[in-house]
Amino acid sequence: MTQDEMKKRAAWAALEFVPRHSIVGVGTGSTVNHFIDALASIKEQIKGAVSSSIASTEKMQALGIAVFDLNDIDSFSVYVDGADEINPARHMIKGGGAALTREKIVAAVAEQFVCIVDASKEVAVLGKFPLPVEVIPMARNYVARELQKLGGRPVWREAVVTDNGNIILDVHDLHITDALTLEQQINQITGVVCNGLFAARAADVVLVGGPDGTRVIK
Ligand code: 5RP
Repeated sequence: MTQDEMKKRAAWAALEFVPRHSIVGVGTGSTVNHFIDALASIKEQIKGAVSSSIASTEKMQALGIAVFDLNDIDSFSVYVDGADEINPARHMIKGGGAALTREKIVAAVAEQFVCIVDASKEVAVLGKFPLPVEVIPMARNYVARELQKLGGRPVWREAVVTDNGNIILDVHDLHITDALTLEQQINQITGVVCNGLFAARAADVVLVGGPDGTRVIK
């Protein structure tokens, strides 16, 4: 079974967590693209979605799913998104697709975060996947120097501008044993918009797609 087939398996399993007649929070990425296909199959049974990126918005609208402005929604039950790494505490590294800031905002409003991954995303310790940090462009070098002081090796993802008009630094060589503290420390650096550690807002449910089916971790 390919990695993409495992992603698809986890994504379709997430439909079970979508309350009917509700608004659904939708993340970004290749796993979420499978989830959007799944959501389209029940689009008559939901009110619509709030989206974490222009890419997800465009895909949902093309499939006839109504996309609402988050500012018009007070609360909703479920946010479904992928991850680049997830540890046993259900802390994640996200942002491989550069959508981390909007993902964190939509996840903050949701009552429940359902994370959909293939088995390769499960790790004991976060940090092998470079940690994405969204930065105001003029602060790029200052923030990079501060990230070095925290033990990382930041690399500018030069080809990318985020949906918010900012840049991404990918921080290599981290071995993250205290994700909650590091998430806060990076947020304290002036010029950082958001970092890809989702520890303060961890996943509530993880659906892991694998060759033998989908494992549910709560
Ligand atoms: C995008 C993300 C994605 O959830 C993460 O990169 C996983 O992507 P994929 O499902 O393509 O493996 O955080 O910013």
